[in-house]
Amino acid sequence: MAVNMLLGLQWGDEGKGKIVDVLTKQYDIIARFQGGPNAGHTLIFDGHKHVLHTIPSGIFHENTLNVIGNGVVIDPVILQKELEKLTAFGVDFLEKLLVSRKAHIILPTHRLLDKVSETSKGEAKIGSTLKGIGPTYTDKISRSGLRVGDLQQENWEEKYRRLAKEHLSKLAFYDVDYSDFDLEKEEKIFFEAVSYLKKLTFIDSELYFQKAIKEGKKILAEGAQGSLLDIDFGTYPFVTSSNTVAAGGCTGLGIAPNKMDKVFGIFKAYTTRVGSGPFPTEIDDDYGKAMAKVGHEFGATTGRPRRCGWLDLVALKYSVLINGVTDLMMMKADVLSGFDTIKVCTAYKYKGEIIDYFPYNIDTEFLEPIYTDFNGWTEDLTQFTKESEFPKELNEYIAFLEKETEVKISIVSVGPDRKQTIFR
Ligand code: GDP
Ligand code: IMO
Ligand code: MG
Repeated sequence: MAVNMLLGLQWGDEGKGKIVDVLTKQYDIIARFQGGPNAGHTLIFDGHKHVLHTIPSGIFHENTLNVIGNGVVIDPVILQKELEKLTAFGVDFLEKLLVSRKAHIILPTHRLLDKVSETSKGEAKIGSTLKGIGPTYTDKISRSGLRVGDLQQENWEEKYRRLAKEHLSKLAFYDVDYSDFDLEKEEKIFFEAVSYLKKLTFIDSELYFQKAIKEGKKILAEGAQGSLLDIDFGTYPFVTSSNTVAAGGCTGLGIAPNKMDKVFGIFKAYTTRVGSGPFPTEIDDDYGKAMAKVGHEFGATTGRPRRCGWLDLVALKYSVLINGVTDLMMMKADVLSGFDTIKVCTAYKYKGEIIDYFPYNIDTEFLEPIYTDFNGWTEDLTQFTKESEFPKELNEYIAFLEKETEVKISIVSVGPDRKQTIFR
């Protein structure tokens, strides 16, 4: 084994943080490869709940190193808050958290640009987390961004000022009032956070990983968001600004494709989405309300209610294919307990035709889901510890999904706690 990857197959929040934490003991290094503080990865163990935004989900384990890769965008202010929480919890991160010099920095004015751009879009807004993700990746691609490695250079503040000035001039294009933005105050907090960030060890992650792979180290790459939010393959423009798919693991860490081995794809037994954009299987009936309530479907980063709906198998198969998923992990099976019927979208009616692929435009104006019904189960799964306890209806659900995706479901998650994880 060289490098395995773990990524979300839907619109994010599948439970990546939980499973990375569960798997960490099998690895030497956990590495986040894209996204930034738009992510919220929840870990629950020993009666404590932790939400990580930028820090890889292996951080609570004694002997594992954690790398923030070059593909990640870092807000020093948010990272500082995360690190302070770790300190309060007694985690000594200095020895086990490494940051790529090539990761880009989110400036306060990136956050402002995100907000102003969203406001100017009105009803057509993306539903961004407003963490400055889009504007920061924009600067990366347009070759004007500030990187972690710059912070080690004497003239970094000059670079910062030039970039912030550019942002302020861009703001003039929007007809949006941002007078409540206090640049001086934001900059003070930002500069303090940069000093804090400089306490961490900066690395050239591509060289670091080459060496680690040669030494036989086991590496798990942790994705953020989900494939349907991918900048190329997601429901554009209602996506995030990075490659969330498996290929992003190579570019986001500096690891060659032939060093990648297994791809673990995580999905919920149903579907959720935060923010705007098409969601064909979205439901607002009693089933949807039960998913939201039992599943506590509120964003881990923004607290916004997540939209809920049935499992979209057409979309799931698409994600399995573009990622080359080798193992599936089904999360939140416990949330569906007590449903008399469980629906799975197995095809779409698209402009009057029945199709079984994910089309260019999944706008519900053109497209309607076609469902296959399954019998539900009444058993509370949350106390189960082994597969042999599963009700037959759950086994039927799993068998159907495995047959359709042609991939084994190797983990079924039956609750948010580390322990509520069943390996098959
Ligand atoms: P991530 O972004 O993919 O790491 O997922 P989030 O942490 O944003 O959202 C997943 C939510 O579901 C969190 O509140 C988890 O604690 C919770 N969770 C994870 N797995 C399960 C599960 O199997 N059952 C239930 N009921 N909750 C789960
Ligand atoms: P994790 O890693 C769910 C969504 C936002 C919005 C769109 C663009 O916890 O699964 P952005 O701030 O990236 O410009 O927002 O993407 N989004 C997520 N949804 N989970 C996430 O991360 C998300 N990160 C971004 O809601 O629709
Ligand atoms: Mg999340």
